[in-house]
Amino acid sequence: MGGIISSNKKKSTDFSPEATKAPINLLIAGAPAAGKGTQSEILRDKYRVVHISTGELLRAAVEAKSELGLKVKHYMENALLVPDDLIIDVVCERLNQQDCRENGWLLDGFPRTEAQAKALAKAGLVPDCFIMINVPESFVLERITGRRVDPVTGNTYHIKFNPPPEGEVADRVIQRSDDTEEKIVKRYSDFTANIDAIKSFYQEVTLHVDGTKHKEDVQSQIAVKLNEIQEKKQEGK
Ligand code: AP5
Repeated sequence: MGGIISSNKKKSTDFSPEATKAPINLLIAGAPAAGKGTQSEILRDKYRVVHISTGELLRAAVEAKSELGLKVKHYMENALLVPDDLIIDVVCERLNQQDCRENGWLLDGFPRTEAQAKALAKAGLVPDCFIMINVPESFVLERITGRRVDPVTGNTYHIKFNPPPEGEVADRVIQRSDDTEEKIVKRYSDFTANIDAIKSFYQEVTLHVDGTKHKEDVQSQIAVKLNEIQEKKQEGK
């Protein structure tokens, strides 16, 4: 598909043992600021999956003033979910590209509605694991307001839990325009309104993880399950 934006800003050169095994297809879900992006950065490097964040994809489209960007700008600025018909085809086409078929994919922030989950199933795009990061609402505000993003690498930091390196990086990090107390209320209510319907699609492949732990602990919870899945795939089970 021409002009599609991949969120893999940072390319991995680290061929971990996991990356040489059978490719896996993953969905990662959770409330705003649950840690989806943080875990996705680690999973992308470890398993060499193609990381597609619909939030990043949409923000990049707005910044580039592409056709899609002009259509979704209003929704993004007001922290509203973009209409299903604007995002579904973009995602399904991206997942059918060769790099996703060869390396596996990690979809972050999609499906966000029942219609999006139905569309994935209709397109035959079935995840090996639905990673559900659970955090209580009380964690969300502190994580959101403290988040900082490096516009050069796309890496995410937190002023308290994971401060950016002193100097150049600390000087250039920015705060997302939707990371305000006012907008988080809307984003969180969209999440709670939709998540049960989405979960019901993936019951058999769901992995619940405790997102309140340190990011390395969260990653360990995920890795145990993914290694098991890879081994089964390798053995053709
Ligand atoms: P999107 O960018 O997907 O936003 P989101 O779902 O609200 O998720 P976030 O990116 O805010 O949080 P995260 O879970 O990735 O947390 P992170 O790892 O950064 O979507 C933005 C908008 O795009 C939507 O509102 C909507 O308008 C639109 N959109 C996107 N997809 C759509 C779709 N499919 N359909 C319709 N519209 C769509 O972590 C947060 C902070 O916490 C960071 O500072 C991090 O350092 C810190 N942190 C992370 N883990 C830990 C930990 N374990 N301990 C301590 N701190 C941690």
